[in-house]
Amino acid sequence: MLFENIKRLTQEVEAFEIENKEQLEAFKNTFVSRKGSIAALFDEIKTVAPELRKQVGQELNQLKQLAQQKLDARQEELEQSSTPDVLAGLDFTLPPVPNALGARHPLARTREQIIRIFERIGFNVSEGPEMEDDWHNFSALNFPDNHPARDMQDTFFLSKNPDMLLRTHTSTVQVRVMEHQKPPIRTLSPGRVFRNEAISARAHCMFHQFEGLYIDRNVSFKDLKDTLYYFVQELFGQDTKIRFRPSFFPFTEPSAEIDITCHICKGKGCNICKGSGWVEIGGAGMVDPNVLENCGIDSQEFSGFAFGMGIERITMLKYQIKDLRLFTENDVRFLRQFTGM
Ligand code: PHE
Repeated sequence: MLFENIKRLTQEVEAFEIENKEQLEAFKNTFVSRKGSIAALFDEIKTVAPELRKQVGQELNQLKQLAQQKLDARQEELEQSSTPDVLAGLDFTLPPVPNALGARHPLARTREQIIRIFERIGFNVSEGPEMEDDWHNFSALNFPDNHPARDMQDTFFLSKNPDMLLRTHTSTVQVRVMEHQKPPIRTLSPGRVFRNEAISARAHCMFHQFEGLYIDRNVSFKDLKDTLYYFVQELFGQDTKIRFRPSFFPFTEPSAEIDITCHICKGKGCNICKGSGWVEIGGAGMVDPNVLENCGIDSQEFSGFAFGMGIERITMLKYQIKDLRLFTENDVRFLRQFTGM
């Protein structure tokens, strides 16, 4: 009787399917656990005739081993093959959702291009604070006390301290460099500037400039022209021409406004250049000796040139962007057009 039970249970153990954790648990409870059917058979040994007990005991032990081995083996297999449940219910035949590629902001891109071009001819990059004092923004740069640029109309003054303001140009950084370094100086100062202007398609109260400064012995106006000619050809293309119009800045003498041939119509005349074939990109000039002296540089020994341009202006010309406000709105339809550039 007991032998038959052992035989039947052996068959059951062998036939039991363990495909998942629930079945594994059921197998364990049914056969292997202390309250399972194998343990129950062990309890019956005492009812068997003494001369058969040894054999029954051996067969039962075999059955117990068989069940335990099957349990261990399946448990290990299930643990190894158990794929995380997060994948359950996913349809791998669906087409993939493309990764959304970000784009660098067009202004950051232009800024970087400009820096690269000037780095190639030995300019380093200098930065300075956006909150400035009157000295670095105006006085050191030879602005007379009554100069209209100091007017409340243009400059954001910081109300708690009337001597402090938001810089209206990055010439401030050049003053700081000249105060702390000895010539030769070749530096490019890109940065954010502020002017109290109504926001429109062509003007903003916050924009970006880069200014260049070169100070050494015997620096001439020709060096300025050559440098800017090199720059505009690198940035806008080899067929770009440059033109200097006489102008005035308190900190340079002589001063000039810089135009380049319109790269849209190549100088023929279009609506971007308003038919003239030329577009203005910034100002430049030879650093006024007063400015050198204000910054502790001997104007008898050294001379230099400076130039300044708007990063927004150049970006608008390069990509034919018609509204300055697009740069700060962060509309993804605008920004996405610069993806992968
Ligand atoms: N600082 C001037 C401005 O902001 C630009 C400029 C820089 C002009 C250097 C001449 C020389 O308008």
